[in-house]
Amino acid sequence: MSHAPPVPVLTIDGPSGSGKGTISALVAEHLGWRLLDSGALYRAVGYAAGMAGLDLSDVEAVTRCAHSTKIQFRAATDGGATRVVVNGHDATDELRTETAGAAASAIASMPSVREALVALQLGFRKSPGLVADGRDMGTVIFPDAAFKVFLTASAAERAKRRYKQLKEKGLSVTLGGLQREIEARDSRDASRAVAPLKPAEDALLIDTTGMGIDEVVAKVLAVVQP
Ligand code: DC
Repeated sequence: MSHAPPVPVLTIDGPSGSGKGTISALVAEHLGWRLLDSGALYRAVGYAAGMAGLDLSDVEAVTRCAHSTKIQFRAATDGGATRVVVNGHDATDELRTETAGAAASAIASMPSVREALVALQLGFRKSPGLVADGRDMGTVIFPDAAFKVFLTASAAERAKRRYKQLKEKGLSVTLGGLQREIEARDSRDASRAVAPLKPAEDALLIDTTGMGIDEVVAKVLAVVQP
């Protein structure tokens, strides 16, 4: 009987706007590994619950929704960002909004919703490797990951980055409003009882304040390929 070595996993956790999404995608592309954007799963469930007219504080209804929502990731035909298809509808743009982020954060505090998404997340671990982006990748979902990173940046810097991203997409937002939303979401994500936002004990902490994307990518890649 052969014992194949486990598929390697690199977990990249951190708060909203720490650059996780961009860095994870670039690192996965560089390594030729798969990518799990776990935040998109919570956003998709929040979105599906909203579309179904559910009360987002109704734990039973939202949990049923988490079990039944069909979430697919599809490569963009124009070479752009991966599309997220929720129950057959391309919801990529709706999922990026702060409203979707806030809904995701609210339903992500429900243990039964998190439980409903575990198997789906574990299923992303396929050869030759996985880059897992989220809040609890290194602590809860892939505690045995060989490589773990926790990215941070000051709330002011994260608000600035998010502001630039949303403005480029033509959305109307204010810097002050974004910073307040980011701080509120951080404190909810960090203080929830189940799988709170915190670095795994064996994660490398990288504060990306004032750092360029290439510099962060190089630091993260050095964890996998020292
Ligand atoms: O990474 P993001 O901004 O797309 O995540 C949206 C929300 O989903 C975030 O505020 C908290 C929640 N989330 C989570 O609880 N666990 C994860 N692994 C990923 C996201």
